[in-house]
Amino acid sequence: MSIESVLHENRVFPPSEAFKAAARISGIEAYRALCAEAEADYGGFWGRQARELIDWHKPFTRTLDESNAPFFKWFEDGELNVSYNCLDRHLATRGDKTAIIFEGDRGDVTKVSYRELHARVCRFANALKAQGVVKGDRVVIYLPMSIEAVVAMQACARIGAIHSVVFGGFSSKSLNERIVDAGAVLVITSDGQFRGGKAMPLKPAVDEALTLGGTGSVRAVIVYKRTDAGAEMQAGRDIWWHEAEAGQPEQCDPVFSSAEHPLFILYTSGSTGKPKGVQHSSGGYLLGTLASLNWVFDLNEQDVFWCTADVGWITGHSYVAYGPLAAGATQVVFEGVPTYPDAGRFWRMIQDHKVSIFYTAPTAIRSLIKAGGDLPKSYDLSSLRLLGSVGEPINPEAWIWYYNVVGGARCPIVDTWWQTETGSHMISPLPGAVDLKPGSCTFPLPGIMADIVDEVGGDVELGKGGFLVIKRPFPSQVRTLWGDPERFKSAYFPPELKGYYLAGDSANRDPDGYFWIMGRIDDVLNVSGHRLGTMEIESALVANPLVAEAAVVGKPHDIKGEAVVAFVVLKGARAEGEEARKTAAALREWVGQQIGPIAKPDEIRFGENLPKTRSGKIMRRLLRALAKGEEITQDVSTLENPAILEQLKEAVK
Ligand code: PRX
Repeated sequence: MSIESVLHENRVFPPSEAFKAAARISGIEAYRALCAEAEADYGGFWGRQARELIDWHKPFTRTLDESNAPFFKWFEDGELNVSYNCLDRHLATRGDKTAIIFEGDRGDVTKVSYRELHARVCRFANALKAQGVVKGDRVVIYLPMSIEAVVAMQACARIGAIHSVVFGGFSSKSLNERIVDAGAVLVITSDGQFRGGKAMPLKPAVDEALTLGGTGSVRAVIVYKRTDAGAEMQAGRDIWWHEAEAGQPEQCDPVFSSAEHPLFILYTSGSTGKPKGVQHSSGGYLLGTLASLNWVFDLNEQDVFWCTADVGWITGHSYVAYGPLAAGATQVVFEGVPTYPDAGRFWRMIQDHKVSIFYTAPTAIRSLIKAGGDLPKSYDLSSLRLLGSVGEPINPEAWIWYYNVVGGARCPIVDTWWQTETGSHMISPLPGAVDLKPGSCTFPLPGIMADIVDEVGGDVELGKGGFLVIKRPFPSQVRTLWGDPERFKSAYFPPELKGYYLAGDSANRDPDGYFWIMGRIDDVLNVSGHRLGTMEIESALVANPLVAEAAVVGKPHDIKGEAVVAFVVLKGARAEGEEARKTAAALREWVGQQIGPIAKPDEIRFGENLPKTRSGKIMRRLLRALAKGEEITQDVSTLENPAILEQLKEAVK
């Protein structure tokens, strides 16, 4: 049985000679040499990287310990502090360099240098200590995008406390579950945040989360004052950020720990209702972020780096709060939304801050195409030299727009495949080395043994699909699920897969060996005995000029096994009546032409939008329930736009 891959994209985009010549990894041979080094001496390769990229307080003597698989240990007898690596080590050479350019929702800009950031982190770390937080304690961070969010994370890292950042868009119920599961001693939040021109409260969700039970471990709540909304402060428990750090010294010795000391827990959805507490290490995690910044982002001293992800997600951990700082970069941190005050916000910010590396998600790209596909042309985007994409496969149409309109046909696009669990990039082009194909994440990073296998771990030939696995342990991988080592083993290392890390995605490789991600294993459909990746059908739909966005799910079907149901957002107004019938028929034909008759959606439903979490992820489980005509019983509190569920209930007849 194989997963059929039927979408073909043949355009190839090599890097320009100029980009290639200046790149850290220049040309495919340089990439292959690194891969060969890792093949020949895996431990030696990663050991060399770890020595070159990290400042060790005590050097490690052993690179990888596989004796208790899959609980792998990297650099375990080495000691380091992650915050030291992000801040202290830059003070002599980059003390006055801007670390963060913060732009608020309303356009206010604040810049901090490495020296200032170091002082702020130390002061806040001392405040945490004054609240009794010690190494190993869990601290939940529920903050908007801000310098303070980075300071809070770094301060925890400095004293060896384990943070768990909860995205500000999560409900109080989700927050409560995470506080309880982690056994947090302290919560850091703000009175509110600015989004789309409005001040929105945040603290009340914490108050409610702490009334929902099971939170007896929480001793204090620190509240950063961001808006004028004020907050109800509970005496004996709540303290303002500025009061907590008042009088605290700007020096705080970092706590050096084993490389295996947990840096953070980050909750992510799994196949069951209960979120998984993905636990990351200190040394291996830091190494993954640093190596990928060098290889994938080709980061240089003069770059201005902007990753638009919220710190509530792994991307905001690895490529906002830790990686860029560890690399000594200047980065932009943005509080607001891409469409406020208008859909030119990102482009205006790239122009104003002279951003050279821009990293965002396909969902943002597609929504900005819909909201103003010509807008980038009104701004000076000549500072850009590299673009990135993360979180889902980028459909070729969006890729081409991103490449031409945003990147001026000058900037390579790194389509980075990775996960919360992998901590850093796994499969991505090295931009000065690899010829790009729109929609493909191309090749694994050096030292990442990614491959595609069948259900017993056997290799599949090129052109055939299968399970995406990583065959050898890698430094930045998840160490365990907090409090649930059994689930860790069964979710990621099923016995039939020879001990390989199972990513949960299906993928295939084309005849040139390029990787194409087809979607989650649970999003793979079986239609009349043919297995089809839902994301391929989505890509085909989005390639139609009428379509802005599409999501495809399966629905049980008497004869075919599964039927394809497509939820479609048109670029113009939502189609209704006869218009809807005609458009649906045209789109079915279109998909038939793009992929093959087998992939034609049985049903098409039009909405003004798709149900998405506040982070922009499409809620596929909700769509599957809608497709089946089930009552929606799941929690929709994180839904950005609950009203559109009604529109998506009915298929076009
Ligand atoms: O299905 C893959 C998809 O996002 C999943 C991981 O989601 P999460 O842990 O939330 O992390 C997102 C940010 C790293 C993967 O299993 N995914 C992520 N990046 C890509 C992708 N799918 C295709 N192409 C990508 N570049």
